Amino acid sequence: MELLTKRLTIRSPVIEDAEELRGKINDFSIVQWLSNTPYPYDIDDAISFINRSNQAIKDSTAYNLVIEIDDEIAGGVGLFDVDEVGCELGFWIASKFWKRGIATEASKTMLYFGFKQLELKTIKASFKEGNEASNKVLKKLGFISIDQKLEDDEILKQRVMMHFLEIKSSDYLFNN
Ligand SMILES: CC(C)(COP(=O)(O)OP(=O)(O)OC[C@H]1O[C@@H](n2cnc3c(N)ncnc32)[C@H](O)[C@@H]1OP(=O)(O)O)[C@@H](O)C(=O)NCCC(=O)NCCS
Repeated sequence: MELLTKRLTIRSPVIEDAEELRGKINDFSIVQWLSNTPYPYDIDDAISFINRSNQAIKDSTAYNLVIEIDDEIAGGVGLFDVDEVGCELGFWIASKFWKRGIATEASKTMLYFGFKQLELKTIKASFKEGNEASNKVLKKLGFISIDQKLEDDEILKQRVMMHFLEIKSSDYLFNN
């Protein structure tokens, strides 16, 4: 699958992306803020991600896509845990592309896809305490805080305050 914006190509990952993906995600300044991402991140992790993503797209259970800008992978964005009413949004951007509005633009495209094409009612997201960049992206998109909870974090090996947010289709459609 492929979604296009003026600057970005947001598409299914292919096996040829494995090495580039590994090189970009294997960065603790990214992985520390994610959940369920191995670190170090090796080539088998990338291959397994690509295979799982393509199967999930076929099954309509998740849309974990890569973001490409000028033929280079700039990051990833996804809707996952998709059911009839909702899903979760997640994203990461390679550090050399930070603060250029890419996470916001790619996530906006995924919200449009989720609400308009999949006709979902609610999209949820979460971030770890201290992740101001993610907080800012989500608030710019219109996400509202709904809860916060201390959780064990496998990557940071400590208890971390998780912040949970959501956006409802009624609010999204009203504002877009
Ligand atoms: C979070 C992340 C995806 C943001 O990507 P990005 O493409 O740099 O974000 P954008 O450029 O769209 O920025 C959106 C807003 O956040 C702000 N922002 C970006 N990085 C920031 C930082 N480190 N600290 C504070 N604000 C930040 C931007 O200035 C912008 O605000 P503005 O429009 O008021 O200027 C990126 O920092 C990243 O990949 N982090 C590691 C992985 C991660 O945290 N993923 C999300 C897990 S919940």
